[in-house]
Amino acid sequence: MNNIIIKNIGKLYNPIQNKVGIFEIRENCSLIITNGIIQEICADEIEINAIRLENYGILDAEGKTVIPGFVDSHAHPIFAELRDNEFEMRNAGKSYLEIAESGGGIKNSVRKLRKLSEEELYSISLKRINEFIQYGTTTLEAKSGYGLTHDDEIKMLKVIKRINKESDIDLVPTFLGAHDIPEEFKDNREEYIYTLINKTIPFVAKEKLAEACDIFIEKNYYTVEEGRRILTAAKGNGLKVKIHADQLTCNGGSELAAELGALSSDHLEYISDKAIDEMIKNDVVFNLMPGSSFFIGMSDYPPARKIIDKGGKIALSTDFNPGTCYCMSLPLIMTISAVYLKMTAEELLWGATIGGAKALGKENEIGSIEKRKKADLLIMDIKNISEIPYSMGMNLVKKVIKNGKLIINN
Ligand code: NIG
Ligand code: FE
Repeated sequence: MNNIIIKNIGKLYNPIQNKVGIFEIRENCSLIITNGIIQEICADEIEINAIRLENYGILDAEGKTVIPGFVDSHAHPIFAELRDNEFEMRNAGKSYLEIAESGGGIKNSVRKLRKLSEEELYSISLKRINEFIQYGTTTLEAKSGYGLTHDDEIKMLKVIKRINKESDIDLVPTFLGAHDIPEEFKDNREEYIYTLINKTIPFVAKEKLAEACDIFIEKNYYTVEEGRRILTAAKGNGLKVKIHADQLTCNGGSELAAELGALSSDHLEYISDKAIDEMIKNDVVFNLMPGSSFFIGMSDYPPARKIIDKGGKIALSTDFNPGTCYCMSLPLIMTISAVYLKMTAEELLWGATIGGAKALGKENEIGSIEKRKKADLLIMDIKNISEIPYSMGMNLVKKVIKNGKLIINN
Protein backbone atom coordinates (compact mmCIF):
# COMPACT_ATOMS: atom_id res chain seq x y z
CA MET A 1 0.00 0.00 0.00
CA ASN A 2 2.92 2.31 0.83
CA ASN A 3 0.95 5.09 2.53
CA ILE A 4 3.13 7.12 4.82
CA ILE A 5 3.33 10.53 6.45
CA ILE A 6 6.83 11.89 6.98
CA LYS A 7 6.67 14.53 9.67
CA ASN A 8 9.18 16.72 11.42
CA ILE A 9 11.31 17.38 8.35
CA GLY A 10 13.90 20.01 9.29
CA LYS A 11 14.75 21.02 5.74
CA LEU A 12 13.54 19.76 2.40
CA TYR A 13 15.65 20.38 -0.71
CA ASN A 14 13.81 20.14 -4.00
CA PRO A 15 15.80 20.59 -7.25
CA ILE A 16 14.03 22.69 -9.87
CA GLN A 17 13.77 21.09 -13.31
CA ASN A 18 15.63 22.93 -16.07
CA LYS A 19 17.48 25.21 -13.63
CA VAL A 20 20.86 23.65 -12.93
CA GLY A 21 21.87 24.07 -9.29
CA ILE A 22 18.65 25.75 -8.19
CA PHE A 23 16.62 24.34 -5.29
CA GLU A 24 13.43 25.20 -3.55
CA ILE A 25 14.12 24.85 0.19
CA ARG A 26 11.34 24.36 2.74
CA GLU A 27 11.74 24.22 6.48
CA ASN A 28 9.76 22.42 9.19
CA CYS A 29 7.40 20.51 6.97
CA SER A 30 5.86 17.13 6.32
CA LEU A 31 4.97 14.95 3.35
CA ILE A 32 1.91 12.83 2.63
CA ILE A 33 2.65 9.81 0.45
CA THR A 34 -0.21 7.74 -0.93
CA ASN A 35 0.38 4.48 -2.83
CA GLY A 36 4.06 5.32 -3.11
CA ILE A 37 3.36 8.68 -4.78
CA ILE A 38 3.90 12.14 -3.27
CA GLN A 39 0.45 13.54 -2.57
CA GLU A 40 1.10 16.64 -0.45
CA ILE A 41 4.22 18.62 0.41
CA CYS A 42 4.31 20.67 3.58
CA ALA A 43 1.01 19.19 4.60
CA ASP A 44 -0.49 21.09 7.50
CA GLU A 45 -2.45 19.64 10.46
CA ILE A 46 -5.78 20.08 8.66
CA GLU A 47 -4.64 18.11 5.64
CA ILE A 48 -3.15 15.41 7.82
CA ASN A 49 -6.35 15.13 9.86
CA ALA A 50 -8.44 14.91 6.70
CA ILE A 51 -6.92 11.61 5.63
CA ARG A 52 -7.75 8.29 7.21
CA LEU A 53 -4.76 8.09 9.49
CA GLU A 54 -5.27 4.41 10.25
CA ASN A 55 -4.26 3.72 6.64
CA TYR A 56 -0.95 5.55 7.02
CA GLY A 57 2.35 4.80 8.69
CA ILE A 58 4.07 7.73 10.42
CA LEU A 59 7.76 8.36 9.97
CA ASP A 60 9.44 10.95 12.18
CA ALA A 61 12.31 12.67 10.37
CA GLU A 62 13.50 14.09 13.72
CA GLY A 63 14.32 17.47 12.23
CA LYS A 64 16.71 15.98 9.67
CA THR A 65 17.06 16.92 6.01
CA VAL A 66 15.11 15.33 3.15
CA ILE A 67 16.44 15.19 -0.41
CA PRO A 68 15.37 13.13 -3.45
CA GLY A 69 16.83 9.64 -3.83
CA PHE A 70 19.95 9.61 -6.00
CA VAL A 71 19.48 8.76 -9.68
CA ASP A 72 22.63 7.10 -11.02
CA SER A 73 22.16 7.43 -14.77
CA HIS A 74 25.28 5.65 -16.05
CA ALA A 75 26.44 2.30 -14.66
CA HIS A 76 27.67 -1.15 -15.70
CA PRO A 77 26.71 -3.21 -12.63
CA ILE A 78 26.33 -6.61 -14.34
CA PHE A 79 29.69 -8.37 -14.61
CA ALA A 80 31.42 -11.55 -13.53
CA GLU A 81 34.58 -10.58 -11.67
CA LEU A 82 36.54 -7.66 -10.32
CA ARG A 83 39.58 -6.31 -12.23
CA ASP A 84 41.64 -5.10 -9.29
CA ASN A 85 44.79 -6.44 -11.04
CA GLU A 86 44.27 -3.78 -13.75
CA PHE A 87 43.96 -1.08 -11.09
CA GLU A 88 47.35 -2.17 -9.78
CA MET A 89 48.85 -2.27 -13.30
CA ARG A 90 47.68 1.29 -13.91
CA ASN A 91 49.14 2.49 -10.67
CA ALA A 92 52.41 0.87 -11.73
CA GLY A 93 52.39 2.98 -14.89
CA LYS A 94 50.29 1.27 -17.61
CA SER A 95 47.47 3.20 -19.29
CA TYR A 96 43.86 2.01 -19.73
CA LEU A 97 44.37 1.64 -23.49
CA GLU A 98 47.66 -0.27 -23.05
CA ILE A 99 46.01 -2.73 -20.66
CA ALA A 100 43.11 -3.14 -23.08
CA GLU A 101 45.49 -3.76 -25.99
CA SER A 102 47.18 -6.54 -24.03
CA GLY A 103 43.92 -8.45 -23.46
CA GLY A 104 42.56 -6.72 -20.37
CA GLY A 105 39.82 -4.11 -20.24
CA ILE A 106 36.34 -4.82 -21.57
CA LYS A 107 37.52 -7.99 -23.37
CA ASN A 108 38.65 -9.41 -20.04
CA SER A 109 35.16 -8.92 -18.56
CA VAL A 110 33.58 -10.34 -21.72
CA ARG A 111 35.57 -13.60 -21.52
CA LYS A 112 34.55 -14.10 -17.89
CA LEU A 113 30.88 -13.19 -18.28
CA ARG A 114 30.37 -15.54 -21.22
CA LYS A 115 31.30 -18.49 -18.97
CA LEU A 116 28.52 -17.79 -16.47
CA SER A 117 24.98 -19.12 -16.71
CA GLU A 118 22.10 -16.66 -16.41
CA GLU A 119 21.46 -18.02 -12.90
CA GLU A 120 25.04 -17.44 -11.74
CA LEU A 121 25.15 -13.96 -13.22
CA TYR A 122 21.80 -13.17 -11.60
CA SER A 123 22.87 -14.09 -8.10
CA ILE A 124 26.18 -12.21 -8.06
CA SER A 125 24.63 -9.15 -9.70
CA LEU A 126 21.61 -9.06 -7.38
CA LYS A 127 23.83 -8.98 -4.31
CA ARG A 128 25.97 -6.21 -5.81
CA ILE A 129 23.05 -4.07 -6.95
CA ASN A 130 21.32 -4.24 -3.56
CA GLU A 131 24.41 -2.60 -2.05
CA PHE A 132 23.80 0.61 -4.02
CA ILE A 133 20.74 1.33 -1.89
CA GLN A 134 22.93 1.85 1.22
CA TYR A 135 24.49 4.88 -0.47
CA GLY A 136 21.10 6.40 -1.29
CA THR A 137 20.69 5.36 -4.92
CA THR A 138 17.02 4.67 -5.65
CA THR A 139 17.23 4.45 -9.46
CA LEU A 140 20.18 2.89 -11.28
CA GLU A 141 20.90 2.54 -14.95
CA ALA A 142 22.18 -0.92 -15.88
CA LYS A 143 23.95 -1.53 -19.17
CA SER A 144 24.67 -4.73 -21.03
CA GLY A 145 27.94 -4.73 -22.97
CA TYR A 146 30.06 -7.50 -21.45
CA GLY A 147 28.46 -10.27 -23.53
CA LEU A 148 29.04 -9.13 -27.11
CA THR A 149 27.21 -12.06 -28.69
CA HIS A 150 23.45 -12.00 -29.30
CA ASP A 151 22.85 -14.64 -26.62
CA ASP A 152 25.22 -13.23 -23.99
CA GLU A 153 23.84 -9.70 -24.38
CA ILE A 154 20.29 -11.04 -24.01
CA LYS A 155 21.44 -13.02 -20.97
CA MET A 156 22.61 -9.76 -19.36
CA LEU A 157 19.38 -7.93 -20.18
CA LYS A 158 17.27 -10.79 -18.79
CA VAL A 159 19.29 -10.66 -15.57
CA ILE A 160 18.60 -6.90 -15.35
CA LYS A 161 14.89 -7.55 -15.85
CA ARG A 162 14.80 -10.20 -13.10
CA ILE A 163 16.75 -8.04 -10.64
CA ASN A 164 14.43 -5.14 -11.37
CA LYS A 165 11.51 -7.29 -10.19
CA GLU A 166 13.36 -8.68 -7.18
CA SER A 167 15.19 -5.63 -5.78
CA ASP A 168 13.77 -2.48 -4.19
CA ILE A 169 15.94 -0.34 -6.47
CA ASP A 170 14.57 0.62 -9.91
CA LEU A 171 16.87 -0.44 -12.74
CA VAL A 172 16.75 1.26 -16.12
CA PRO A 173 18.11 -1.15 -18.77
CA THR A 174 20.37 0.02 -21.61
CA PHE A 175 21.62 -2.11 -24.49
CA LEU A 176 25.38 -1.65 -25.01
CA GLY A 177 26.13 -4.36 -27.58
CA ALA A 178 28.53 -1.87 -29.20
CA HIS A 179 30.79 -1.61 -26.14
CA ASP A 180 33.74 -3.22 -27.92
CA ILE A 181 34.35 -5.31 -31.04
CA PRO A 182 34.30 -8.96 -29.92
CA GLU A 183 37.68 -10.70 -30.25
CA GLU A 184 36.33 -13.23 -32.75
CA PHE A 185 35.19 -10.40 -35.07
CA LYS A 186 38.34 -8.29 -34.93
CA ASP A 187 39.07 -8.93 -38.62
CA ASN A 188 35.43 -8.75 -39.63
CA ARG A 189 33.80 -6.03 -37.54
CA GLU A 190 31.20 -5.38 -40.23
CA GLU A 191 29.66 -8.80 -39.61
CA TYR A 192 29.21 -8.05 -35.89
CA ILE A 193 27.71 -4.64 -36.67
CA TYR A 194 25.36 -6.31 -39.18
CA THR A 195 24.13 -8.67 -36.43
CA LEU A 196 23.63 -5.77 -34.01
CA ILE A 197 21.59 -3.79 -36.51
CA ASN A 198 19.58 -6.60 -38.03
CA LYS A 199 19.13 -9.07 -35.20
CA THR A 200 19.95 -7.99 -31.67
CA ILE A 201 18.64 -4.40 -31.66
CA PRO A 202 15.27 -5.38 -33.20
CA PHE A 203 14.98 -8.30 -30.73
CA VAL A 204 15.85 -6.14 -27.70
CA ALA A 205 13.31 -3.51 -28.76
CA LYS A 206 10.54 -6.00 -29.53
CA GLU A 207 10.98 -7.83 -26.22
CA LYS A 208 11.27 -4.51 -24.35
CA LEU A 209 14.55 -5.61 -22.78
CA ALA A 210 16.08 -2.11 -22.89
CA GLU A 211 14.87 1.49 -22.99
CA ALA A 212 17.94 2.89 -24.70
CA CYS A 213 20.90 1.91 -26.85
CA ASP A 214 24.43 3.07 -26.04
CA ILE A 215 27.78 2.80 -27.85
CA PHE A 216 31.45 3.37 -26.95
CA ILE A 217 32.80 5.79 -29.58
CA GLU A 218 36.57 5.86 -29.07
CA LYS A 219 39.91 5.14 -30.67
CA ASN A 220 40.24 1.30 -30.94
CA TYR A 221 36.47 0.88 -30.34
CA TYR A 222 33.68 2.31 -32.56
CA THR A 223 33.87 5.16 -35.07
CA VAL A 224 31.40 8.02 -35.39
CA GLU A 225 30.22 6.60 -38.71
CA GLU A 226 29.52 3.18 -37.15
CA GLY A 227 27.82 4.94 -34.25
CA ARG A 228 25.53 6.82 -36.61
CA ARG A 229 24.44 3.58 -38.29
CA ILE A 230 23.93 1.61 -35.08
CA LEU A 231 22.09 4.34 -33.19
CA THR A 232 19.95 5.26 -36.19
CA ALA A 233 18.85 1.61 -36.30
CA ALA A 234 18.13 1.74 -32.57
CA LYS A 235 16.00 4.86 -32.98
CA GLY A 236 14.19 3.22 -35.89
CA ASN A 237 13.26 0.39 -33.50
CA GLY A 238 11.91 2.85 -30.93
CA LEU A 239 14.88 2.91 -28.54
CA LYS A 240 16.28 6.09 -27.06
CA VAL A 241 20.00 6.63 -27.65
CA LYS A 242 23.07 7.79 -25.72
CA ILE A 243 26.83 7.71 -26.29
CA HIS A 244 30.09 7.12 -24.40
CA ALA A 245 31.94 10.00 -26.05
CA ASP A 246 35.16 11.99 -25.85
CA GLN A 247 36.42 9.97 -22.86
CA LEU A 248 40.02 9.22 -23.88
CA THR A 249 40.28 11.28 -27.09
CA CYS A 250 38.27 14.07 -28.72
CA ASN A 251 36.38 11.94 -31.23
CA GLY A 252 33.18 13.58 -32.46
CA GLY A 253 30.89 11.37 -30.36
CA SER A 254 29.22 14.33 -28.68
CA GLU A 255 28.51 16.04 -32.02
CA LEU A 256 26.79 12.80 -33.02
CA ALA A 257 24.76 12.81 -29.78
CA ALA A 258 23.54 16.31 -30.67
CA GLU A 259 22.78 15.31 -34.26
CA LEU A 260 20.72 12.29 -33.17
CA GLY A 261 18.90 14.05 -30.31
CA ALA A 262 20.38 11.62 -27.78
CA LEU A 263 19.25 11.59 -24.15
CA SER A 264 22.83 12.24 -23.08
CA SER A 265 26.45 12.21 -24.10
CA ASP A 266 28.59 10.67 -21.38
CA HIS A 267 32.14 11.16 -20.01
CA LEU A 268 33.26 14.23 -22.09
CA GLU A 269 36.81 14.69 -20.83
CA TYR A 270 37.85 15.86 -24.33
CA ILE A 271 34.61 17.39 -25.63
CA SER A 272 35.04 20.22 -28.18
CA ASP A 273 33.52 23.68 -27.79
CA LYS A 274 31.50 23.07 -30.92
CA ALA A 275 29.98 19.91 -29.43
CA ILE A 276 29.09 21.76 -26.21
CA ASP A 277 27.15 24.35 -28.22
CA GLU A 278 25.42 21.73 -30.36
CA MET A 279 24.40 19.62 -27.37
CA ILE A 280 22.94 22.66 -25.62
CA LYS A 281 21.00 23.60 -28.75
CA ASN A 282 19.53 20.09 -28.96
CA ASP A 283 18.88 19.75 -25.20
CA VAL A 284 21.19 16.73 -24.78
CA VAL A 285 22.30 16.10 -21.17
CA PHE A 286 26.02 16.30 -20.36
CA ASN A 287 26.48 13.18 -18.25
CA LEU A 288 29.62 13.67 -16.14
CA MET A 289 31.37 10.81 -14.36
CA PRO A 290 34.74 12.03 -13.15
CA GLY A 291 35.08 8.98 -10.91
CA SER A 292 36.46 7.17 -13.95
CA SER A 293 39.09 9.87 -14.73
CA PHE A 294 40.10 9.74 -11.08
CA PHE A 295 40.20 5.94 -10.87
CA ILE A 296 42.24 5.44 -14.04
CA GLY A 297 44.61 8.24 -13.04
CA MET A 298 43.88 10.72 -15.83
CA SER A 299 44.89 14.31 -15.39
CA ASP A 300 42.06 15.59 -17.59
CA TYR A 301 38.50 16.02 -16.38
CA PRO A 302 35.32 17.11 -18.17
CA PRO A 303 35.01 20.91 -18.49
CA ALA A 304 32.01 21.14 -16.20
CA ARG A 305 32.36 24.86 -15.44
CA LYS A 306 32.38 25.77 -19.10
CA ILE A 307 29.36 23.52 -19.77
CA ILE A 308 27.30 24.88 -16.88
CA ASP A 309 28.26 28.49 -17.50
CA LYS A 310 27.12 28.15 -21.11
CA GLY A 311 23.76 26.78 -19.93
CA GLY A 312 24.22 23.01 -20.36
CA LYS A 313 22.11 20.54 -18.37
CA ILE A 314 24.31 18.16 -16.44
CA ALA A 315 23.91 14.78 -14.80
CA LEU A 316 26.38 13.25 -12.37
CA SER A 317 26.81 9.49 -12.32
CA THR A 318 29.19 6.82 -11.02
CA ASP A 319 29.95 4.88 -14.23
CA PHE A 320 30.21 1.96 -11.79
CA ASN A 321 32.10 -0.84 -13.59
CA PRO A 322 34.94 -3.28 -12.83
CA GLY A 323 37.48 -1.44 -14.98
CA THR A 324 37.37 2.33 -14.85
CA CYS A 325 35.34 3.09 -11.71
CA TYR A 326 34.58 0.57 -9.00
CA CYS A 327 32.54 3.00 -6.90
CA MET A 328 28.85 2.78 -5.98
CA SER A 329 28.70 5.97 -3.98
CA LEU A 330 27.31 9.06 -5.70
CA PRO A 331 28.28 11.16 -2.64
CA LEU A 332 31.93 10.17 -3.17
CA ILE A 333 31.60 11.09 -6.86
CA MET A 334 30.26 14.45 -5.66
CA THR A 335 33.43 14.96 -3.61
CA ILE A 336 35.65 14.16 -6.61
CA SER A 337 33.57 16.48 -8.79
CA ALA A 338 33.71 19.33 -6.31
CA VAL A 339 37.50 19.19 -6.23
CA TYR A 340 38.31 18.46 -9.88
CA LEU A 341 35.30 19.91 -11.72
CA LYS A 342 34.89 22.94 -9.43
CA MET A 343 31.17 22.39 -9.11
CA THR A 344 29.08 23.75 -6.24
CA ALA A 345 27.22 21.48 -3.82
CA GLU A 346 23.94 22.65 -5.39
CA GLU A 347 25.11 21.79 -8.92
CA LEU A 348 26.35 18.40 -7.71
CA LEU A 349 23.15 17.42 -5.96
CA TRP A 350 21.09 18.71 -8.88
CA GLY A 351 23.12 16.52 -11.27
CA ALA A 352 22.79 13.44 -9.05
CA THR A 353 19.00 13.78 -8.78
CA ILE A 354 16.90 15.63 -11.37
CA GLY A 355 19.83 15.82 -13.84
CA GLY A 356 20.20 12.04 -13.69
CA ALA A 357 16.45 11.65 -14.13
CA LYS A 358 16.58 13.81 -17.27
CA ALA A 359 19.50 11.76 -18.61
CA LEU A 360 17.21 8.73 -18.36
CA GLY A 361 14.20 10.53 -19.88
CA LYS A 362 12.39 10.18 -16.53
CA GLU A 363 12.35 13.74 -15.22
CA ASN A 364 8.57 13.67 -14.89
CA GLU A 365 8.58 10.59 -12.65
CA ILE A 366 11.63 10.83 -10.39
CA GLY A 367 14.53 13.07 -9.36
CA SER A 368 12.66 15.76 -7.40
CA ILE A 369 10.12 16.09 -4.60
CA GLU A 370 6.95 17.10 -6.40
CA LYS A 371 3.33 16.08 -6.25
CA ARG A 372 2.52 13.01 -8.39
CA LYS A 373 6.16 11.92 -8.50
CA LYS A 374 7.44 8.68 -6.98
CA ALA A 375 8.22 8.99 -3.29
CA ASP A 376 11.93 8.14 -3.60
CA LEU A 377 13.50 10.06 -0.73
CA LEU A 378 16.53 10.17 1.54
CA ILE A 379 16.65 11.35 5.12
CA MET A 380 20.14 12.74 5.58
CA ASP A 381 21.98 13.57 8.77
CA ILE A 382 23.02 17.05 7.57
CA LYS A 383 22.13 20.68 8.12
CA ASN A 384 23.23 21.90 4.69
CA ILE A 385 23.80 20.04 1.43
CA SER A 386 27.39 21.32 1.29
CA GLU A 387 28.10 18.61 3.89
CA ILE A 388 27.52 15.88 1.29
CA PRO A 389 30.56 16.50 -0.98
CA TYR A 390 32.56 17.66 2.05
CA SER A 391 32.13 14.38 3.93
CA MET A 392 34.56 12.39 1.82
CA GLY A 393 33.70 8.69 1.65
CA MET A 394 31.29 8.96 4.59
CA ASN A 395 27.74 7.76 4.46
CA LEU A 396 25.28 10.39 5.71
CA VAL A 397 22.20 8.49 4.50
CA LYS A 398 20.04 7.71 7.53
CA LYS A 399 16.87 6.44 5.88
CA VAL A 400 15.92 5.49 2.34
CA ILE A 401 12.30 5.62 1.25
CA LYS A 402 11.62 3.92 -2.09
CA ASN A 403 8.15 4.12 -3.64
CA GLY A 404 6.91 5.27 -0.25
CA LYS A 405 8.41 2.28 1.59
CA LEU A 406 11.13 2.57 4.22
CA ILE A 407 13.87 0.25 2.93
CA ILE A 408 16.95 1.45 4.84
CA ASN A 409 16.77 2.54 8.44
CA ASN A 410 20.22 3.34 9.82
O1 NIG B 1 32.37 3.78 -19.11
N1 NIG B 1 34.23 3.50 -21.55
C1 NIG B 1 33.72 2.42 -21.73
N2 NIG B 1 33.14 1.67 -20.81
C2 NIG B 1 33.40 1.75 -19.43
C3 NIG B 1 34.58 0.97 -19.05
C4 NIG B 1 34.30 -0.45 -19.16
C5 NIG B 1 35.38 -1.34 -18.68
O2 NIG B 1 36.57 -1.01 -18.64
O3 NIG B 1 34.97 -2.46 -18.32
C6 NIG B 1 33.42 3.18 -18.98
O4 NIG B 1 34.42 3.72 -18.52
FE1 FE C 1 30.48 3.73 -18.93
